[in-house]
Order: sequence, then structure tokens, then C-alpha cells
Amino acid sequence: MGIPVNSLVVHVTGARPNFPKAAPVLEALATRGVEQLLVHTGQHYDERMSEIFFRQLGIPQPDVNLGVGSGPHGAQTAATMVALEELFTERRPALVVVYGDVNSTVAAALVASKLGIAIAHVEAGLRSFDMTMPEEINRLVTDRLSNLLLATSVDAVAHLGNEGVAADKIHFVGNPMIDTLLKNIDRFDADAARAAFDLSGPYQVATLHRPGNVDRPEDIARLVTAMHQAADEAPVIIPLHPRGRGRLTEAGLFDHPAIRVEDPLGYVEFMGLVRGAAAVITDSGGVQEETTILGIPCLTLRPNTERPVTITNGTNQLVTHETLPSRVREVLAEGPLSQWPTPPLWDGRAGERIADILARKVAG
Ligand code: UD1
Ligand code: UDP
Repeated sequence: MGIPVNSLVVHVTGARPNFPKAAPVLEALATRGVEQLLVHTGQHYDERMSEIFFRQLGIPQPDVNLGVGSGPHGAQTAATMVALEELFTERRPALVVVYGDVNSTVAAALVASKLGIAIAHVEAGLRSFDMTMPEEINRLVTDRLSNLLLATSVDAVAHLGNEGVAADKIHFVGNPMIDTLLKNIDRFDADAARAAFDLSGPYQVATLHRPGNVDRPEDIARLVTAMHQAADEAPVIIPLHPRGRGRLTEAGLFDHPAIRVEDPLGYVEFMGLVRGAAAVITDSGGVQEETTILGIPCLTLRPNTERPVTITNGTNQLVTHETLPSRVREVLAEGPLSQWPTPPLWDGRAGERIADILARKVAG
């Protein structure tokens, strides 16, 4: 306990959604002259799930890649913890910054807290109240151990307050993933996406990777039926996450003339495709937020969301396998949205706010 500290800030990333969240924080903190070390745990490792984000978003190459790779939760989290414990003990950071709700996030929080190192959690306080989601467990544990809780939405601030977190630890900073979107928006070329995928009329984009949708055969069968019904209405492009790809293929996801399954896309290409879409079908957390800012109707194939602000102040709605086809018909009939609300402080300045708080913390 209580190892000596210096003013080094260590950022721990590892999975795809971490990268667009960390990019603006790294950039803003660099301008404040704070010494930083970027760790990639290696949780995601395919070029399309990792390296392409660094290249497209101009994120500095990680200083360290722990190369933990895939595995069951216990093995993956434990391998990350072993490697991080060694690194933190050697480097003695003043502060560890963790992002989102993936296994890399909770592993870093567990290790830092046992070593007496302060933790800042970017995207604190989100709650689905669904303990069958591994991410909900990761969120609860990470927030409980964190010293700075950096929240993207008002509901997240309220959840932390309800859980007894002291008000002076909680900061409503906005959404750094939206900083990345706004910074790059001129690169999102819907016409190029249409040309690349040979699309003329209205089309849909889908991403699917939640265990609740793609792990069990009975869920997969219902999902495939629902997706085929959605594709009866307009073509669906699916840049498919590696999780469940084999199972979805076997269950016949590809077997519809209007469904096109692709490898995961680079951020710029993906957002270009989304920008031109008539509807997005997803179970992704980040995509619910991005569609909200772009004003693209988002149909979230989940029973709940930890991002209700995308429903109250955005374009999102929850759908089931059964309601998806009729919701797709409704959204396509309504056509493009001319106006829609957006959440407070999703204004492109979250990275700056976060960097101010982190810099103050390490300055003592
Ligand atoms: C993880 C996060 C999830 C997040 C998602 C974003 C946890 C518990 N889950 O889920 O919250 O929404 O990332 O994408 O941290 N695989 C590859 N190549 C890769 C990475 C993974 O083929 O580069 C395959 C492997 O078969 C692996 C599987 O995908 O077993 C799942 O990867 P894992 O990181 O364990 O969880 P995700 O489902 O990606
Ligand atoms: N994304 C991408 N290419 C894709 C699918 C998603 O660049 O083919 C981006 C998306 O724009 C968002 C992030 O990946 O910024 C979200 O990651 P993911 O859906 O894997 O994780 P989640 O947000 O559900 O945790």
C-alpha cells in the first residue's frame, strides 16, 4: 500500500470503444505539459479493432502494449491485472485514467486501488441496472474504487450521488467520444460510403456484439429472423464485430439478398456509413451516442440502456426482436429528421474539461 508517487498520468486503454474516448483526453492533457504514459492492454488486437483507430484519430502509439489478448473474463482480467501491477509498481504513477466499462477498465482500477494510486474514471456513473451485463459489474466496481468520477450525463451524476459517492469527487464533464466525432465530422463522407457499398436508396447500418444478442443459439435465431425482416424494408450493411461472427454465420445471418456483412470498419468509414443511413440498428453503447449527435434514428436491440439520455435527448429507442421490423418501417416512412434534441455538454469540449481536472489532481 501507499507506494511513492510522481506526477505521471497513466492512461489504460484496450478495447475498441476506449480509443475514441481517450483521444481527446490525451491531446488536451499534452497541451498542459503533463507527463503521460499510454497503455494498451491488448484486449482487442485485430487491426480493424485497434490499430486503425490510432492511425485515423492521430492517437500516439501506445508506450506499452501488454498483449493480454482474448479469454474468459477471469483469465483476461487476471492477465491484465498481473501485467498492470508490474507496470504500476515500476512506474509509480500519480494517477491512472480508465475509460468506459470493459475488462481492461476494471482490471486497472483493481490494481491501482490496491497500490494506493488515485483513479480517474472517464464515463463514470452509467447504469443499466442489469447485472447480467459484464459491463454493469465493471462499471460498479470501477466507480466504487475511483477518486475522480467524470460523468457524461446528468443521470450518471445522479446515480453516483444515490450510491453515496461524495459530491466533490463527481464532475459532469460531457462526452469525450463526442469530442472525437465533432472533431472528425468533416471526414465522414456518406457519398463515399454509398459508392463503396453500391447503395442508391435508403439503407440501414447494423452493429451487433452484446452477449445478450450473439452468444446463445436461441437469441441468435430470433436475432437472425428480426434482421431478415428489417432487411425486407431496406438494405442492411453490417460491419460485424468478431464476437459471435461464426455463430451468426452458421445461423444464416448472411442468407438474405439485402444483408451485406463486412469486417469491422475503420472509424472514419464507419461514421461515413452511419451519417448517410436512414436507420441504425445496434447493441453498441457508443453507437447510441454517435447517432444521437448525427440525428440518425437509432434502434437499440436491448432490453435496457445505460445511456437513457440518448432516448430523452436524442434519436434512440429500445426495440425487441419482435418490434424491430415495425419500428424500421416507421422510421423509414418518417424519413430524415430535421431537428432533434442533444444532451447537455456534448459539445466537443469534454477532453478539455477532463484535462483541467486531471492536471489539477496531479499538481496536488
Ligand atoms: C468487449 C467489452 C464490451 C465492449 C466491446 C467493444 C468486456 C467485458 N466487454 O466485448 O463491453 O462493448 O468489447 O467492442 O470487456 N476478438 C477478436 N479480435 C479482437 C478482439 C476480440 O477476434 O481484436 C474476438 C475473440 O474471439 C474474443 C471475442 O472477440 O474472444 C470477444 O472479445 P472480448 O474483448 O473478450 O469481448 P468483446 O465481446 O469484444
Ligand atoms: N465502430 C467503428 N467501426 C465499426 C463499428 C464501430 O469504428 O465497424 C466504432 C463506433 O463508431 C464507436 C465504437 O466503435 O466509436 C464503439 O465500439 P463498440 O460498439 O465496439 O463498443 P461499445 O460502445 O458497445 O462498448
